[in-house]
Amino acid sequence: MHRLLSLILTIALTMLTSSTASEISIIPRPQKLATPAAGKPFVLQATCTISASSDSANKVAKQLANYLQPATGFQLEIVPADGDIQLILDSESQLADEAYIFAANEQGIVITAKTNAGLFYGVQTLRQLLPTEIFSANSMPNIIWEIPAVTIEDSPRFSWRGLHLDVSRHFSDAEYVKQFLDYMALHKLNKFHWHLTDDQGWRIEIKQYPKLTEISSQRKETLIGHQRSKPHKFDGKPYGGYYTQEEIKQVIAHAADLHITVIPEIEMPGHAVAALTGYPEFGCTGGPYEVWTRWGISSDVFCAGNDDTLQFVKNILDEVCALFPSTYIHIGGDECKKDKWKQCPKCQDRIQTKGLKDEHELQSWFINDIEKHLLQANKKLVGWEEIREGKLSKSATVMTWRGVGQHGLDAAKDGHDVIVAPQKFTYFDHYQAKNDEQTARKEPLAIGGHLTLDRVYSFDPIFPELAGTDKEKHILGGQAQLWREYIPTNEHLEYMAYPRACALAEALWLQADKKDYEQFSARLLPHLERLDQLDINYRKLD
Ligand code: ACM
Ligand code: ZN
Repeated sequence: MHRLLSLILTIALTMLTSSTASEISIIPRPQKLATPAAGKPFVLQATCTISASSDSANKVAKQLANYLQPATGFQLEIVPADGDIQLILDSESQLADEAYIFAANEQGIVITAKTNAGLFYGVQTLRQLLPTEIFSANSMPNIIWEIPAVTIEDSPRFSWRGLHLDVSRHFSDAEYVKQFLDYMALHKLNKFHWHLTDDQGWRIEIKQYPKLTEISSQRKETLIGHQRSKPHKFDGKPYGGYYTQEEIKQVIAHAADLHITVIPEIEMPGHAVAALTGYPEFGCTGGPYEVWTRWGISSDVFCAGNDDTLQFVKNILDEVCALFPSTYIHIGGDECKKDKWKQCPKCQDRIQTKGLKDEHELQSWFINDIEKHLLQANKKLVGWEEIREGKLSKSATVMTWRGVGQHGLDAAKDGHDVIVAPQKFTYFDHYQAKNDEQTARKEPLAIGGHLTLDRVYSFDPIFPELAGTDKEKHILGGQAQLWREYIPTNEHLEYMAYPRACALAEALWLQADKKDYEQFSARLLPHLERLDQLDINYRKLD
């Protein structure tokens, strides 16, 4: 009889525990989370203190206090030790770099990590354990700021958890980019791939080449409607924008506070029409060129046979390397048409003198030459998968986007590190509903395709061909792309990015065997309330 009673009690307690656990809706889901059966919550009050174990941890403590201030109205005091919330930085710890341990009970909260990044992720988890109103910018006087009793051990599966943003086709100013980074940090995303140049606009100030901002950053007008709808119509409105180096420094500093690395992308040798409009002498024909007003792929590319062109891009990269602390510098490398190279005496001469087989080898010669230059500045080259055409040096990192498994597998087999960014799972410029549902939902015009939330969730950078092989280590992680031909405004950008970025974040953070879409969907509902509080214009669920 006793035994039966104890069994019933155990079952009841387990149910209680799991119901508490299911109310906890952290995205990305932590690797390990336990809720003590009889644990009482911690209640955050105005008199609570935050302690930081070092000057370095103090920085995270201040961030935490700032996060909590607007909605609670509390100005939490930061003390040297024994705070109600303790941030403990232990550089000797066995924890992985981005890992953290989080423990909350009625008495207080302790977050332990080896690095500030780990502490910071513990803080992001803390925010998500509070009532969703904590994300409000306005004071919320009637809320009891409870944090459930919980213990969490957490660390990411991949070190590269990225979002890419195209600011060439359509621009977002530096203030907005900082906000975009705030939303990434909430989801523990840590790589911001900033697509700064393309045919439709050059967006970064380069001091040596002022025409890049005077001329290349402006276009005459922009295509209305889809590129496929002919005849083309244009809006007749000049469009432009760029970041000064000062603004870029501010964005990088903000990103660093959020433990996000900013990886700049400077496109070459293709997607160069905007640059060539300012500096036509670096194309094969000498121009004139005009910053593109429509979408697609231009056959006007940098002349790979002209030494002055190589010097031009190297000088640009020197300024970029000096500006961006990121080890990785993205040089594009995708969709470079070879028509002009075939006709160009300088390009043909280069093929002859370097003993190259064809224009593909000319492209890899160009990329390898640029890579050598970057390596001298202690930077690593990363480029879209087309940089593998020809003979690419092993030290280059490859970003795959066209296929799913095979392309990455081939690159990894050749010894390259790989970042997996396939259209099928990570192109957030695609429609969010299946074709037949697009019209019913009145989805805004998009480039095409469809990428539903559940497909994003199912994304696994370790594709089956690679799983369990010694090549797995070459897969650094993955990222989603926000190409902006059809994404003109920041509101529209948020619509395309969220909630798909929530699914991406979990796909890149959580161990594969713990992923569960239904469970994620349940956690997403309260999470969307957070996004509401933050005023993010996410796409509503079906
Ligand atoms: C790409 O989508 N052209 C990388
Ligand atoms: Zn040429």
